[in-house]
Amino acid sequence: MKTKSILSVRALATAAVVVCASTSAFAQKNAAELHTRATAAMCANCHGTDGRTTEGSAIPSLVGMPKEYHILQMQAFKSGSRPATVMHQITKGLTDAQIETIAGYYATTKR
Ligand code: HEC
Repeated sequence: MKTKSILSVRALATAAVVVCASTSAFAQKNAAELHTRATAAMCANCHGTDGRTTEGSAIPSLVGMPKEYHILQMQAFKSGSRPATVMHQITKGLTDAQIETIAGYYATTKR
């Protein structure tokens, strides 16, 4: 009888450890996702929510843009090899890591 209750306490403790570990992994994943979305949201003022501009807009959409293409354009704006009215300024304020994060985010969004 006594052995049985010790066993169940151990089982409960094990279950609690498993639950805690998965909860913190979940929180970390959420924090990373939130950070990515917040970084990408810098572009929403001009490129629209989730990078979707309205039909006929002079500003191109970013939604669903392939990551490699996106990074190349951002680097070209930053270096000045692609002429721009605004984007050369915007890209100067971004690190390569931020550009990578943003391009990765928009590549996962669906048109
Ligand atoms: C103040 C408005 C504004 C903001 C904010 C802005 N953009 Fe732009 N974006 C433009 C304009 C305007 C163009 C057209 C090129 C130019 O004249 O600068 C453009 C062009 C682009 C292009 C080229 C698209 C293509 O099809 O080749 C990319 C990529 C881009 N922006 C990414 C971004 C990202 C990523 C952000 C956020 C970090 C951002 N932009 C923030 C106005 C903006």
